[in-house]
Amino acid sequence: MPDAVNVGFVPMATSARGVLFVFCDDTLKFGPDTVKAVGTAANAVKRAAATSQFKGKSGSTLDILAPEGLKASRLVVIGVGKLDAIKDHDFLKLGGALAGKIGGGKEPVTVIAELPSGAMTPAQAAAIAAGVRMRAYKFDRYKTKKKDGDDTPLDASVAIAVRDVAATKKAFAPQNHVVDGVIMARELVNEPPNVLYPVEFARRASQLRKLGVAVEVLDVPAMKRLKMGALLGVSQGSTQPGRTVIMRWNGGKKGQQPVAFVGKGVCFDTGGISIKPSGSMEDMKGDMGGAACVVGLMHALAARKAKVNVVGAIGLVENMPDGNAQRPGDIVTSMSGQTIEIINTDAEGRLVLADVLWYVAKKHKPKFMVDLATLTGAILVALGTEYAGLFSNNDELSQRLTEAGQATGERVWRMPMGPEYDKMMDSQFADMKNAGARHGGSITAAQFLQRFVDDTPWAHLDIAGTAMGAAKTDINQSWGSGYGVRLLDRLVADYYESK
Ligand code: BES
Ligand code: MN
Ligand code: ZN
Repeated sequence: MPDAVNVGFVPMATSARGVLFVFCDDTLKFGPDTVKAVGTAANAVKRAAATSQFKGKSGSTLDILAPEGLKASRLVVIGVGKLDAIKDHDFLKLGGALAGKIGGGKEPVTVIAELPSGAMTPAQAAAIAAGVRMRAYKFDRYKTKKKDGDDTPLDASVAIAVRDVAATKKAFAPQNHVVDGVIMARELVNEPPNVLYPVEFARRASQLRKLGVAVEVLDVPAMKRLKMGALLGVSQGSTQPGRTVIMRWNGGKKGQQPVAFVGKGVCFDTGGISIKPSGSMEDMKGDMGGAACVVGLMHALAARKAKVNVVGAIGLVENMPDGNAQRPGDIVTSMSGQTIEIINTDAEGRLVLADVLWYVAKKHKPKFMVDLATLTGAILVALGTEYAGLFSNNDELSQRLTEAGQATGERVWRMPMGPEYDKMMDSQFADMKNAGARHGGSITAAQFLQRFVDDTPWAHLDIAGTAMGAAKTDINQSWGSGYGVRLLDRLVADYYESK
């Protein structure tokens, strides 16, 4: 894993060298062990708080160098805000905020995992550790000259001092696997498109076999036999052959109906013959963010041995203009038998998903399917980078996704669907067209997808705004965010795992 930070748990300490982190609330109150650890430096904290207007707001920090009377060379106080307003998800952010303050030094770091009200629960202390790792991740594989300042990777040992080491380790183990999944998804999104093309993506997904995931890779002849004409039409303009990858984790009861996750994996989207303008086209290396999320999620679920049967499926292609590329006006036949008139070769993600959704629905008959796709620029217009668009034929699944979004901070916002929008995708020459008018572009894209799910309960997450290029946060400093891994891990954990 490309984060050099090393997080561990130690028994509650009241004396530490290096950098010492402690927590206070909005009244600047400390817990009992924190009071002991801060000792005579309490006075310096009071004075520094007054001069710097530090009020203990959630995530704010107060930095004291060479604190009098302590072995530590730095004492950093982190605010948690109002005690009764703290939510589970805040601990992840606190861990991130903390990691952001460590700096490039090699000094050991100690964190006193205590609130003014007493020791953090094992789950809370574990979330701090997870937040540290999420924040520490940096994509710098292709920088040959490591610089100081912002470019220094976090290379520290962070000891989190807790009341119950064994219980905290136990709480952290599954969370740690989820963080690995998030980082894996970020890596895939950040990788350049000359390195990560469909065959290489499939190879990386195949590494999940080490965790006991069954991985099946469909090559072009296999997809031709399945008559995946919509996906293959997109792929045909590239010299890089496409792939579909099916990953299965069977941690549930034998024969139990699986849940399914489907990802758009356009390793690079030039737009094809309907070519995109060159400004920011490089961002289209991230057009496989949905597939990256599915791989990261499968990693998380398998590594933490989730008690559920899961199918993960990704359609991997490159959308290129070429002598053999598909044209606007072409009519392709999807695996479902439905025909599609190509209006715009840049509306390629839905063509890829059409065949993979149909394949998963028919072959695996899942309890539900959730697809993730960087599908439309229009979802950025509607929701910006804070919420993913949620489109669904099922209220229960939508409700559960919304709740998992609130709990993890990976939020979704449900958008409308309906027959009026569906009609906008009818074609004069084929069963449907692949692009509607400009208005309601994210909705008509979802209507198109719905034509390939039959009556399977289904939700589509348009993650064009959330998977990449969002503002940097306490828990993510990288371009690729890994959005969706924690959301869907939570969905599975809260509703679909057998006890
Ligand atoms: N991959 C793009 C959507 C996208 C845009 C993702 C910006 C991330 C940032 C998708 O394939 C696309 O090109 N969609 C078109 C659809 C249109 C041609 C109907 C779009 O959004 O303009
Ligand atoms: Mn496109
Ligand atoms: Zn695309």
